[in-house]
Amino acid sequence: MKVLVTGGAGYIGSVTARALLARGHDVEVLDDFSTGHREALPPGIRLHEGSLLDAGFVDRALAAPCDAVLHFAAFSLVAESVARPLPYYRNNVGGSVNLLDAAARAGIRRFVFSSTAAVYGEPDEMPITEHAPTRPVNPYGHTKLAIEWALADTAAAAGFPAVALRYFNACGATADLGEDHDPETHLIPRLLRSVLDPGLGFAVYGDDYPTPDGTCIRDYIHVTDLAEAHALALEADVRPGLSVYNLGSETGASVREILKAAEAVTGCAFDPRIEPRRPGDPARLVAGNARARRELGWRPRSSDLPTILADAWNWHRAHPRGYQG
Ligand SMILES: NC(=O)c1ccc[n+]([C@@H]2O[C@H](COP(=O)([O-])OP(=O)(O)OC[C@H]3O[C@@H](n4cnc5c(N)ncnc54)[C@H](O)[C@@H]3O)[C@@H](O)[C@H]2O)c1
Repeated sequence: MKVLVTGGAGYIGSVTARALLARGHDVEVLDDFSTGHREALPPGIRLHEGSLLDAGFVDRALAAPCDAVLHFAAFSLVAESVARPLPYYRNNVGGSVNLLDAAARAGIRRFVFSSTAAVYGEPDEMPITEHAPTRPVNPYGHTKLAIEWALADTAAAAGFPAVALRYFNACGATADLGEDHDPETHLIPRLLRSVLDPGLGFAVYGDDYPTPDGTCIRDYIHVTDLAEAHALALEADVRPGLSVYNLGSETGASVREILKAAEAVTGCAFDPRIEPRRPGDPARLVAGNARARRELGWRPRSSDLPTILADAWNWHRAHPRGYQG
């Protein structure tokens, strides 16, 4: 299939673009490099450099016939979205509206969207299934849910099947591609960077949660498992309209378990600062992934902690300043 990958220079988009090329798809990337990295692009890939906010540019990118769109491009820092919501609405919702408009007119046959566990907010039941109510608690989550709605309505009107993949915590790396956000807000890269640069320090926010070791439990999913889910969502025989799938490992790990796994791969003993709980941080967020297993034939293969930490550590050690070197 000919596939346009928006955000293909970012963390998850770049790993997915390579996975699709390896499966024989014809891949093009659209990116404005606002948070992405040229070094993450597959060599020789056709690049549409520009922003989704430029409707004319998006139309031109989709002018040549294209079978499918994989839409990763977004801003995704929760705290920043709380402090400055409008750039999030403009970029995430506005950019997606331009993309959906162009994609519908171009007659694409499949649209796969990077959604997030943040659409659930603080759910009442664990593990979280796709039936759980969507009650996001921050502007980032609101924008992602708004895009799901726009996607459902556009897919119904234009008649293409669409898939929203709600990822939990993306992590891990391949040999060449890893996580390099600025600022980095994710636990595993922050922890590993603190090994390479001890001046950074590392804090655990709350050790008095009602969990076995008192620290928060989250669902960590290896970026190569996410990439495979995208390939399956592209290739699967899904029904018309919007299909929604959780992508998580269904197990969950606490912050202390991550520290222990990181100690095993780095050989470094951690002595984190214990800070108070952060507002809005639930004790436990774990995905139910039965629907993705059943309907997409997906299963996480690399989302065990030793593999996640070893792959992430290998990448960070080889790239102590991220893609800068
Ligand atoms: N990383 C996670 O744990 C996680 C979890 C759930 C959902 N997601 C979602 O997955 C997607 C990818 O996340 P990531 O961690 O790879 O992010 P990332 O910041 O590494 O990648 C995003 C990419 O989109 C590009 N981009 C942003 N706005 C653009 C625009 N207007 N026009 C063109 N390009 C634009 C950036 O330059 C970047 O290359 C995002 O939509 C994010 O919300 C990520």
